[in-house]
Amino acid sequence: MCGIVAYVGNREAYPILMKGLHRLEYRGYDSAGVCVYNNDGLHLYKTLGKVADLERFVEGKDMSGHIGIAHTRWATHGLPNEINAHPHYSQYADIALIHNGIIENYATLKEELQKHGRSFTSETDTEVLVQLIDFIRMDNGISLEEAVHQALSQVVGAYAIAIMSKDDPYTVIGARKGSPLVIGVGDGEFILASDATPLVEYTKKVIYLDEEEIAVMTVRPDAEPTLRVTNLKNVRKTPLVQTLETNLEVLEKGGYPHFMLKEIYEQPKVIRDSFRGRINVERNTVALSGIIDHQKEFLSARRIIITACGTSWHAGLVGKYLIEELARIPVEVEYASEYRYRHPIINKDDVVIAISQSGETADTLAAVNLARDQGAFVYGICNVVGASIPRATHSGTYIHAGPEIGVASTKAFTAQVCVLTLVALSLAKAKGTVSESRFRAIINELYTLPDKIEKTLLLNDRIADFAKIFTYSRNFLYLGRGYNYPLALEGALKLKEISYIHAEGYPAAEMKHGPIALVDNEMPIVVIATNQGNYEKIVSNIQEVKARKGRIISIVTEGDTTVKALSDFYIEIPPTEAMLVPILACVPLQLLAYHIAVQRGCNVDQPRNLAKSVTVE
Ligand code: M6R
Repeated sequence: MCGIVAYVGNREAYPILMKGLHRLEYRGYDSAGVCVYNNDGLHLYKTLGKVADLERFVEGKDMSGHIGIAHTRWATHGLPNEINAHPHYSQYADIALIHNGIIENYATLKEELQKHGRSFTSETDTEVLVQLIDFIRMDNGISLEEAVHQALSQVVGAYAIAIMSKDDPYTVIGARKGSPLVIGVGDGEFILASDATPLVEYTKKVIYLDEEEIAVMTVRPDAEPTLRVTNLKNVRKTPLVQTLETNLEVLEKGGYPHFMLKEIYEQPKVIRDSFRGRINVERNTVALSGIIDHQKEFLSARRIIITACGTSWHAGLVGKYLIEELARIPVEVEYASEYRYRHPIINKDDVVIAISQSGETADTLAAVNLARDQGAFVYGICNVVGASIPRATHSGTYIHAGPEIGVASTKAFTAQVCVLTLVALSLAKAKGTVSESRFRAIINELYTLPDKIEKTLLLNDRIADFAKIFTYSRNFLYLGRGYNYPLALEGALKLKEISYIHAEGYPAAEMKHGPIALVDNEMPIVVIATNQGNYEKIVSNIQEVKARKGRIISIVTEGDTTVKALSDFYIEIPPTEAMLVPILACVPLQLLAYHIAVQRGCNVDQPRNLAKSVTVE
């Protein structure tokens, strides 16, 4: 989604803004823009396309200056084009503003402003906001900061904004509600951004703005830099300066052609990191502080509701199977976008688990707030430290996967499932629903997973080879049973989002209730057929497909003979516990999607129309 970078300080702003926009490209966008101030006023340029297009467009222009704002836009109101791109000027080009989010009452506000003679050039809600701020400022003869306060009090919706004005070329104002903003505090400079990635190379000191906070950052030539944070009610806040853990290396491709491939290969390390310090093999225990400190809420829960979107929802479905099998607590899994609006029954003895890589997904955040407001205990499983969801939940656990830059979620999924396994194990132990020996067997097996993933990654070339055969397929079906069913959903999502091939995931046995009609000799069917539980049953499902000449790509356990014999292509993965197969078998599924997309010439890291962090509903 939209990316915001703003700079004020003692260095040249433009190179920092552009580098920042490049770092935010992973979020997904369709146009970009920048505004800097120098001697003769504000200079604003925007263009449809990529940040590199903006750089080319700006080449040769005077972009010197120590203050500026820059933006990547992911269209919501109005087409992706140069006019709708941000920054937006106020009527007389005195103020420039960039925005992430949606101003829901923009139509009413626009009508009011038009009655007062304001005219608009774009179709955006953002232009309404900058005009409103400017109108209030001019009409009342007040400062920009006061006008921002008053304007934001009239706004319904979500926003993260950065504003600069030609009347005070030493100050950037930022504000947030529902969309994240982080301030990097450097030596004589402030950098404001949608997330920490543009700040990493300049400072480790960061401040995450809270809901409805407004930050005024000023750096004048002969004075100490100042930062003033207030809330919408004009109460002064003391910002908490935190230390950023991320380093530059994790934001680079490190020799890989794409972030997605790099992140797939990071999974052995990510899995180790996700259980580091949380499993004690000698004492046969699992310790997650977010659960230990709230054991009462978990153990007295009548049910658990897991809410999430996309890949995180798929991890949640694996989590349901894990928690129900191990801890015997009923679990429901809800799409956050449905849950928040369908008047769900939420009891005080419900525990809601919200899963989100970014920690910023608007629907998941809204579901968290709804559950909290109705008295449920809310626990978060997130990756991005300090994001909105971990801040809104009562407790939680970070997955420690490191920044995930590829839009297609890979390492976050495996780490989420890993943490959910730990959640299920720790609840099972506390409830006494798992024997000591079974518990030990599972944690011992968990420890072997990073090595088994390493081994599976050795299949990369083989997968790349047969991916070529399916480059021009138009449809795919993914089938699995039990723990492998959520994996089928995830495999299908990976393929469709990066290769634009239509793919559907199904519980294998459901196939004959409809999807089997699609099967013909052109249809590739990916079957996750590892040798546990329902093995014979999935073999029958494969036979049903073969009888209709479907082309089987199977994921089997090493040593398998039956499914291999029925398959056109197979991928062998090391044996593991049925409940841990999703962590291992997702790797070849990710690689298959990756190589097909690369063969098709798709932009793997930034697929069309998609955003990494979906901060609008
Ligand atoms: O950041 P989140 O985990 O909340 O994001 C949820 C989905 O938007 C995300 O998983 C999406 O489906 C990915 N593009 C999948 O690869």
